[in-house]
Amino acid sequence: MSTVITNIATLVTNDPTLERGTPLGLVRDAAVVIDGDRIVWTGEAGRAPATDDRVDAGGRTVLPGFVDSHSHLVFAGDRTEEFNARMSGRPYGAGGIRTTVAATRAATDTELEENLTRLLAEALRQGTTTFETKSGYGLTTEHEARALRLAARHTDEVTYLGAHIVAPEYADDPAGYVDLVTGEMLDACAPHARWIDVFCEQGAFDGDQARAILTAGRAKGLHPRVHANQLSHGPGVRLAVELDAASADHCTHLTDADVDALANGTTVATLLPGAEFSTRAEWPDARRLLDAGVTVALSTDCNPGSSFTSSVPFCVALAVRDMGMTPDEAVWSATAGGAAALRRTDIGRLAPGARADLVLLDAPSHVHLAYRPGVPLVAGVWRHGVRVV
Ligand code: NIG
Ligand code: FE
Repeated sequence: MSTVITNIATLVTNDPTLERGTPLGLVRDAAVVIDGDRIVWTGEAGRAPATDDRVDAGGRTVLPGFVDSHSHLVFAGDRTEEFNARMSGRPYGAGGIRTTVAATRAATDTELEENLTRLLAEALRQGTTTFETKSGYGLTTEHEARALRLAARHTDEVTYLGAHIVAPEYADDPAGYVDLVTGEMLDACAPHARWIDVFCEQGAFDGDQARAILTAGRAKGLHPRVHANQLSHGPGVRLAVELDAASADHCTHLTDADVDALANGTTVATLLPGAEFSTRAEWPDARRLLDAGVTVALSTDCNPGSSFTSSVPFCVALAVRDMGMTPDEAVWSATAGGAAALRRTDIGRLAPGARADLVLLDAPSHVHLAYRPGVPLVAGVWRHGVRVV
């Protein structure tokens, strides 16, 4: 059955063949035709083909569903106290992860899945139609594999992050933990995941450990992505580029050599402004990356410690206000950029053949996502061609 969504004031296609001075491929007074789970036509409303069904967008905006290419949604527990302490001046450190590890291990499968589905519903209401999510709060073979199994029931974009921090049991034997992560744990986790990730940071894993972990994952068919240069300068970004990781995530502390590496490689820089917001850290410099020609994605990093937001619109607003992005760039990064960070071409754009994942925004243009921060503008969501909000 085919449906036309018509009377769209601004249609964001991210289709470069329609480009009119922005990478967004904007069409004014537009329509989109969906058939099954695919887009079959986009263009000016007056030229739309006949369809079985018609939805009136009421002179509002339609854009591709957001692609949240970085989240940590399989967890239990709450870190309100840690947030409160930070807002009183305490710095953020990776150590808080241990609090969530203890709560996650103690939770039942049902509790974990209920929390996950609640967060997914929350994200969907805010326009996220594709999400990646990770393990990393289990840190034993059993608990990491469980997290990935649960995640895989809800998304194809599942990431093994056994190397989030060294498990507490291995505090005195980090090399032993790397052996576990690259051995028995990897064997148990690889069948449930598409990606492997490592937190390459002081206090987590150094460059050599990260290389060993990512290389072992690759040998098991997992593709790398890296938590890189979040809290300090380090080797993460250059390692990501060297290993052809799909994405280097955070990219807050970059040298010129890091930016050059990204500009000359195939790795997307995924910026996660929710983390800088919630940790009161310095903002990543999106402008510097964009001016160097780096592909930038924007995602939530939704997790109970450093960034407890599921809202891509919030991240778009932060990126525009504080990271030097234009609204057009931020919207592209939250849709097509996220797709690039997941090496997907079927999502993040609205063009014939793409998946029918769309957001209807109660606004005359996509710019309102940054212009009207904190306002629930998402008025409709279609996922795989089905209206879900
Ligand atoms: O991406 N950087 C490492 N991991 C998460 C934070 C996890 C936590 O604090 O629980 C992040 O920010
Ligand atoms: Fe993260």
